[in-house]
Amino acid sequence: TRKIIIDTDPGQDDAVAILLALASPELEVLGITAVAGNVPLALTQKNARIVCELAGRPDMRVFAGCEAPMTRTLVTAEHVHGRTGLDGPTLPDPTMPLDATHAVDFIIETLRAAPEGEVTLCTLGPLTNVATAFRAAPEIIAKVREIVAMGGAYFEVGNITPAAEFNIYVDPQAADIVFRSGVPMTVMPLDVTHKALVTRPRNEAFRALGNRVGVATAEMTDFFERFDREKYGSDGAPLHDPTVTAFLLRPDLFEGRHVNVEVETGSELTLGMTVADWWRVTDRAPNATFMGNLDADGFFGLLTERLARLP
Ligand code: BDR
Ligand code: CA
Repeated sequence: TRKIIIDTDPGQDDAVAILLALASPELEVLGITAVAGNVPLALTQKNARIVCELAGRPDMRVFAGCEAPMTRTLVTAEHVHGRTGLDGPTLPDPTMPLDATHAVDFIIETLRAAPEGEVTLCTLGPLTNVATAFRAAPEIIAKVREIVAMGGAYFEVGNITPAAEFNIYVDPQAADIVFRSGVPMTVMPLDVTHKALVTRPRNEAFRALGNRVGVATAEMTDFFERFDREKYGSDGAPLHDPTVTAFLLRPDLFEGRHVNVEVETGSELTLGMTVADWWRVTDRAPNATFMGNLDADGFFGLLTERLARLP
């Protein structure tokens, strides 16, 4: 099994990514660390616990992390995810506790205690928690096996500004620290996630599972969808974050390139843009495998099969 920490700002698509991880015996989720992003921290940490209980895992450790980006003011995305961040299904308030440890301390302590190359960080939101941990305890950087992140864009450019993807835009300083850290990175930009579209038949396949997770997933992706259909005219909403957990299970579903990726932290116009040297026109050293393509049917097949295993 592969040991992972999921750093997240749920978010319906974050929720599905967590469900996929909890449904998969190949992955051992050491903890879920919440960060401010789609909605403020008070909601993301609560939503993370709602999702664990939905999955029948009230034993999971959930930690609250940073409530604001490193230097900027928080930008949220209620226009996409709704007021709660998890609009769509009606799910009960969580009864499982929030862990008393700060998410950043949990990340630091877990990596300190782990052998080198054992723990993978899966990041589904702004990179504030991870960058804060790296800055506070630089010795943990060498311990990380890999970071698999949803964020950025190349050909598909921006979804929160014309130039930037939401997760990177919210905390470009944090993203810059993480991309420069030297940790091997695999990145799922919009170029990939805009190919993971929840079409009607895919949504109905979730609902047809008949278990409470399948029905909730259908309701979450239904809610998420109304935004993208209106906004982009796309055939179903992009299911961004589950590509991260799917990659850990089935890397063969993805295609990308190991390239140099840098984050714009200065320009107001292109703040948070991920500049990927896709055509290798510079001699800057590659620091990330930037994915560009995915087998969407394989991805949804995997997801549906796994969600069926949950309550
Ligand atoms: C990313 O931003 C959030 O709204 C989603 O949860 C995803 O992580 C997509 O740009
Ligand atoms: Ca997210």
